[in-house]
Amino acid sequence: MPSNRPLFIVAIDGGAASGKSSTSRALCRRFNFLHVDTGSHYRALTAALLAENTGPEDTARVVAALARLPVGTAVSGNEARITVAGRVIPDAELRAPAVNAAVSGFAAIPELRAALLAYQRGQAAVAEERGFHGLIMEGRDIGSVIFPGAQLRVFLHADPEARARRRALEGQSDSIAERDRRDSTRTTAPLVCPDGAVSIDSTRLTLDEVVGKIAALIGEGMTAR
Ligand code: CDP
Ligand code: CDP
Repeated sequence: MPSNRPLFIVAIDGGAASGKSSTSRALCRRFNFLHVDTGSHYRALTAALLAENTGPEDTARVVAALARLPVGTAVSGNEARITVAGRVIPDAELRAPAVNAAVSGFAAIPELRAALLAYQRGQAAVAEERGFHGLIMEGRDIGSVIFPGAQLRVFLHADPEARARRRALEGQSDSIAERDRRDSTRTTAPLVCPDGAVSIDSTRLTLDEVVGKIAALIGEGMTAR
């Protein structure tokens, strides 16, 4: 049921394996917020485009393919999942090595980012319609481009060695340093610490400690409204 209080929006940005998804999931459960992982949006389109043999180097073909691949939203618990042509793509496909290797290339295409910008901003209406108290959106450009007016902007970081270790513990093959380099140096919506963001170094913090810090900020922000 929609509430009459404005939606509390939290933007969490950071490099690969900085802890965005696990932190956001825990916070959304605690505050009854909707969780939107925008990395999964880029991964879903990458998987769908690779499945039809379209690579990131052929922008005209990417643009034509996007017009045939309508996106939608399926909400399950606190998670909003993107659907592509009516299908939720399973995590195993989103995290496949071929997707890890190609996603930053697709994410550098301005037309693809423009298609996702409207979709991502529209997630605020999804959260309101479903009666959530707020929205946590995580990615690379949320506090800088998608929701620069978010009530709380957080930039998570950690030493590259710590992040590589985290991914290895998950059993994933992923060149996170190369993805970070491409994401930080692209022209459109590069990975940056947004203006006014609270920066948290999680190298030596547990997940619970990071969640505790951000939960305190959300609590203060919601009380101050
Ligand atoms: O989970 P991990 O941090 O490794 O990556 P992700 O959040 O799933 O994002 C996958 C890729 O999508 C990133 O490496 C970026 O190329 C792209 N991405 C982006 O460009 N902008 C966003 N807001 C989110 C992700
Ligand atoms: O979404 P992102 O790629 O930024 O990171 P994640 O998937 O949330 O976290 C990557 C891994 O690091 C997960 O296995 C987390 O449990 C772990 N992690 C950690 O060890 N310490 C933290 N402070 C945050 C996450």
